[in-house]
Order: sequence, then C-alpha cells, then structure tokens
Amino acid sequence: MHSSSRTSPIRICCIGAGYVGGPTMAMIAKQCPDIPVAVVDLNQARIDQWNSDELPVYEPGLQEVVAEARGRNLTFSTDVEGAIRSSNIIFISVNTPTKMHGIGAGRAANLEFVEKCARKIAECSQGHKIVVEKSTLPVRTAEAVKRILSSASSGATFDVLSNPEFLAEGTAVSDLLAPDRVLIGGESSQAIEQLASVYERWIPREKILTTNLWSSELSKLTANAFLAQRVSSINAISALCEVTGANVDEVARAIGTDSRIGPKFLKASVGFGGSCFQKDILNLVYLCEHFGLSEVAKYWEQVVVMNDYQKKRFSTRMVRTMFHTVSDKQIAVWGFAFKKDTNDTRESAAIYVCRDLLEEGARLMVYDPRVSEKQIRQDLMNVFKASSGEVSERHRQLIEKNVTVVKDAYTASNLSHAIVVLTEWDEFKKLDMQRVYDQMHRPAFVFDGRNVLDAHTMDKIGFEVHGIGRS
Ligand code: UDX
Ligand code: ADP
Repeated sequence: MHSSSRTSPIRICCIGAGYVGGPTMAMIAKQCPDIPVAVVDLNQARIDQWNSDELPVYEPGLQEVVAEARGRNLTFSTDVEGAIRSSNIIFISVNTPTKMHGIGAGRAANLEFVEKCARKIAECSQGHKIVVEKSTLPVRTAEAVKRILSSASSGATFDVLSNPEFLAEGTAVSDLLAPDRVLIGGESSQAIEQLASVYERWIPREKILTTNLWSSELSKLTANAFLAQRVSSINAISALCEVTGANVDEVARAIGTDSRIGPKFLKASVGFGGSCFQKDILNLVYLCEHFGLSEVAKYWEQVVVMNDYQKKRFSTRMVRTMFHTVSDKQIAVWGFAFKKDTNDTRESAAIYVCRDLLEEGARLMVYDPRVSEKQIRQDLMNVFKASSGEVSERHRQLIEKNVTVVKDAYTASNLSHAIVVLTEWDEFKKLDMQRVYDQMHRPAFVFDGRNVLDAHTMDKIGFEVHGIGRS
C-alpha cells in the first residue's frame, strides 16, 4: 500500500522529448489542465525547439495542442533531476534502437538509455513513484527496471507499469485523441488505477485495457509485427502482380472487402520504414531465439527479409528499365520521409533506394516538403557507413556532388530523366503533370513507389509509368 501516491495530486514527468514523448505528453497536458506535465530531455537543442514555434516533430495539429498547454501546465526543459523529484508518475520515453555491437547486435534492443533513466530515477527519488515504460521494450524489461529501482538508497518505493504507445506518426494527434485502446500492464492495481484515471479524462473506460506486465510488453511487439506482416504480405503479392499482369491495388481492394481481412494496411509500397516495425520484429526474433523457438524466429524474420527484398527489387527495376544504366542521369526524388505527414526519416525506404541509385552513379534532385537538407545528407552518410563501417571518400564525394536538395517538386523534375516517388505526400497528386513532362528528358520515366499518381492520365501525357505491383 502506498497511500501517499493515492492521495497526493498527480504530477507527471516524461523523460525523452522525441516523437513519442513530446506529442503524448502534449495531449495529456491539453486534456488535463490541472496536472503539471514536465517533459525533459538531455538534448538542449531539442528542448529549445519544443519551446519555439518550430517544433522538432512535424505532426498535423500538434502545434495547436502544444500552444494550448505550453506555459500553462506543460513545460519542456533539460532539468531531468528536478522533474523526477517533483513528480509522482514518471514516463520513460527514450529511444531503444537496435544494438549495433556486441551480444545480439543487429537484433536486440539497446537498453542503455532506459537503464540510465532507471538509475537516474533511483538516485533522485524520495517517497513513492509510479514509473511507466512508454518506450517499446523487449519483454521482461520491466523486471530489469524494477531491480535497478529497488537499489535506490533513499528508501524510495516504486511501482512499474508498462503503457505502450500505439500512435502512428503523421496521425499522432488524432490517434492520441481517440485511440483504439490504451494498454496498461502492471502488478499493482492501485498504480494501474491511478494511471487509468489520467486517460479516463478523455478516453472511454472500456477502451482502457489492463493486463499483466509481460502481456503488455509483448502486445506492443506483436501489434507491430502483425501490421508489418500485412505490408510485407501485400508487397510479396506485388512482385507476383508485376510478372502476371494482375494489379496489386485491385487485388488489395478485392481481398480487403472480406471482413475477416479488412481493408486497412494493404497498400503495396516500396517497403515499410519508420522507427518501429523493423526494430520491433528483430526484437521479437531475438526473443524467440533466446527461448529456443527457432521456427518462430524464422517465421517473423521473413517479414523483414521481404521488406529488404522489396526495396532492392524497386531500385534494381529502375536501373534495368532505364536501359541498364543510370550513370550520370538526373533523377528527381519526390519524398524522403518514411510516410506522409511526418518529418521522420528513420528506416525510410527512400534512404536505401537513394543509396542504390548513387552507387550506380545517378545524380539525385531530392525534394521533401518536411525533411531538412541536413537530415537527408546525414541519412545518406549513415547508410554508407552502415554498409562499410565508415564513409569512404568515394561515397562522401557522391553525397556531396550527386545529391542536390531542392525546394519543390517542379525544380526536382526539371531536366530529369526520371521521377521516383518515395513518399505519398498529398501535394504530389495535385501537380501539373503536363508541366513536369515538358521539362523532362525523353522517355520521361516515372517510378511510383507509392502508387499515388494517376497512371492513366500520366500515360496519356506521354510518361512511361512504372508503379508497384502493375505490369
Ligand atoms: C507504427 C504503428 O502503426 C503504430 O501503432 C506504432 O505505435 C508505431 O509503429 P508508424 O511506424 O508511425 O506506426 O507508421 P505506420 O502508419 O504504421 O507505417 C509504417 C510504414 O509502413 C510506413 O513506411 C508506411 O508507408 C508503410 N505502410 C503502411 C505501407 O507501405 N502500406 C500500408 O498499407 C501501411
Ligand atoms: P521515440 O521515437 O521513441 O520518441 P526519439 O529518438 O524521437 O524516440 O526520442 C527519444 C529522446 O530521448 C531523444 O530526444 C533523446 O535525447 C532522449 N533521451 C535518451 N536518453 C535519455 C536520458 N537518459 N535522459 C533524458 N533524455 C534521454
């Protein structure tokens, strides 16, 4: 029994001001004006951005949510210790990237940042606190967090809850406002109730599911694995469509009307990206291997294998179609983010397609409405670094000389031999394609990695259009 936490008013802090922590806390603060919400991060530049009009995360509607609560009950700072001391519910929302070195490299999650948070909480806490895992974590991480917390010398006591976030980027605000469900896993019903009472301010009680800790942790990995599996499944069929004359969008529509399958998440694409899908599946694979379930591990790993195949297949098809060489040809790259309505590029298919085209000597004119030039160059540097350990002089030169980042889609396509659509931004559907065509070399190739452009109209104008899953 921890009577102090039950009676004292709720004060929230969140460690990690990223794509998850920032929007989630902004929504809690907006919906609960009486609850102080302190978002803290070690990264001063990021905090400064949260305190400005240029937020570090682009999400439709987020600016308004932050503007309403910031300065009222929502604060952003680097005072991690102060925020821990003055709150009784502490969210951990730091990044958990795939490990690059050591045991489980390339698969297991790097828990360094989570562990550091737990140690910091143990060090600064007094009284009773509820610690909430918001980051997606391997199953049984809560156990490790509990053990670290129990070493607190101050005599502080803790309840650990798992409360995974299911928001998708690009729709974060609407997902947070009306989620399909909120999941809270834990052992102490009192702590669960206290956290549930926050969400209950705007989410119907029946949508708040409670489970044990491990079920909650595993549910998050499983949800992402199932979603990614759907994309890989339709992408696998897209390869078959291209050789048989079927159209993958028609197949998706036909199967999606089966109520058992459903229409969502059946959009064939150049491959899924984002910070979660690949990382969480690899995590699941690592977990299965750890427990000796090698068939289960192989089954899920295939979802990632298929995704890599899809990205590679796409860039190879581009080169083959353009008379087996793109060397010194200018290619307009429309979109770099991993999906529309976000400035996030983590694991974006665009990074891999651009890498392959650069290796073939193409000159890229890149346009994305939300991704900065700095980010694009950084991502390309990192992808070359990942494949060969360090960035060679040749790759550095390629990025410097063969990549130009421009401010609009028309400039990108001017004098290009081909256009490649890598993100499904709505603005690409509204362009004057005749104007685009008039500025391009012939044949004017279009490789639509998102099937967003109207192939029929483009054909009529004279483009040679290659979509996903269409022969
Ligand atoms: C995902 C989950 O949806 C979310 O619940 C979880 O909290 C985090 O991971 P996110 O990665 O932000 O969210 O975006 P999502 O909409 O799932 O898209 C992931 C990738 O799959 C994107 O690259 C997207 O373009 C691609 N995708 C999605 C497809 O290619 N086809 C589809 O039909 C759906
Ligand atoms: P996500 O998409 O999961 O939100 P991000 O990488 O966008 O991941 O955000 C995670 C944030 O957590 C980063 O801004 C990073 O600086 C912050 N962070 C990582 N470790 C710590 C820590 N020990 N204390 C405070 N902030 C941290």
